[in-house]
Amino acid sequence: MNKIIAENNSVLSGMRPTGSLHLGHYHGVLKNWINLQHEYQCFFFVADWHALTTHYDDPSIIAKSAWDVVIDWLAAGINPGEATIFFQSKVPEHAELHLLLSMITPLGWLERVPSYKDLQENLKDRDLATYGFLGYPLLQSADILIYRAGQVPVGEDQVAHVELTREVARRFNFLYGREPGYEEKSEAAIKKMGKKNAKQYNNLRKRFQEQGDQEALAVARELLKQQQNITIADQERLYGYLEGGGRMILPEPQSILTPTAKMPGIDGQKMSKSYNNTIALREDPDSVDQKIRTMPTDPARVRLTDPGDPEKCPVWQFHEVYSDDATKQWVCDGCRGAKIGCIDCKKPVIEAINSELEPIRKRAEEYTKNPDAIENIVAEGSERARDVARETMDEVRKAMGIDYR
Ligand code: TRP
Ligand code: SF4
Repeated sequence: MNKIIAENNSVLSGMRPTGSLHLGHYHGVLKNWINLQHEYQCFFFVADWHALTTHYDDPSIIAKSAWDVVIDWLAAGINPGEATIFFQSKVPEHAELHLLLSMITPLGWLERVPSYKDLQENLKDRDLATYGFLGYPLLQSADILIYRAGQVPVGEDQVAHVELTREVARRFNFLYGREPGYEEKSEAAIKKMGKKNAKQYNNLRKRFQEQGDQEALAVARELLKQQQNITIADQERLYGYLEGGGRMILPEPQSILTPTAKMPGIDGQKMSKSYNNTIALREDPDSVDQKIRTMPTDPARVRLTDPGDPEKCPVWQFHEVYSDDATKQWVCDGCRGAKIGCIDCKKPVIEAINSELEPIRKRAEEYTKNPDAIENIVAEGSERARDVARETMDEVRKAMGIDYR
């Protein structure tokens, strides 16, 4: 198969191992990953180096969480036969690419990333005035570019990092994609596509470069995708030549925005470990029961006879996630008409969560009993990832002229 198509079809995403996963991860991120794994070549990795940028003074949580995160992914339905699962630190090429990219990345680009100042202010108890923390979005760029991933599923807070990645890729291609004779080589490559295709490419290129016609750009890219007669290097040249840049050694990724999870925590705020309001994927049934039972409800409902308003009640948000229309109707009538008690109202939620978690818990338990299986999955995934990363690094070094030995 044509390599560039394969690469742009790949999806990469990562999670920092700073604790076990909860329903917020499941409904927000994992279900999305599970769908993507059938359609794309997916790379999912445990971003252990990223965790160090904020947890460098107490890294003990990282090693334990790294394995737990993998168990949670597998238990939730990530299939290691379809997706490549690995640890960042087992693919040291990420660090090499990060270093090389750091040479060309203006300091201002990193200082301007919104999460830099935000997190420094929000995590006041940690000293984040470090070199590693400033550079972490660039490490993320290396994570993405090293697999030449076309798509990166991320939450809203991470979109700026994918944007930075695009800028860095563009700069890299501009600086190192213009090998000697670039124009001549591109013109020769155009001819190799055959008369008809060459003519079409030239027209589309002109329309894009002279009139900024985005549709022409898209059509031309599609045309390049379909070329079977030209080499990969030529294809990369022509992608870049199309836009007036250099050879596209590191393609620019797109973000796939993960819809903001509707999953509330048990206090009605967003479910997050830092708010201490989570239900873990491996939470045992009694604990789920206990947590939902003690959840706050509409404060107006002090007694059974006081009518309430579901809109003012965090339990209602759980019904929105879990209940069918009939149950929701029953909640609204019962609550507003003071016909049901809050404990009754919570029962279907408890049942729904527990039946959702039961198979996940079971699978997690099996994996926990079988650490060798997990180790093998991660070792194999890391090897597979490393093969791809090595290929990219060969090209990167060559483009930068540091492939001598
Ligand atoms: N920074 C991401 C987070 O905090 C995790 C991450 C690291 C990541 N590298 C990535 C996500 C590459 C997507 C792609 O959630
Ligand atoms: Fe909330 Fe249900 Fe109680 Fe109404 S009846 S306040 S929706 S828990």
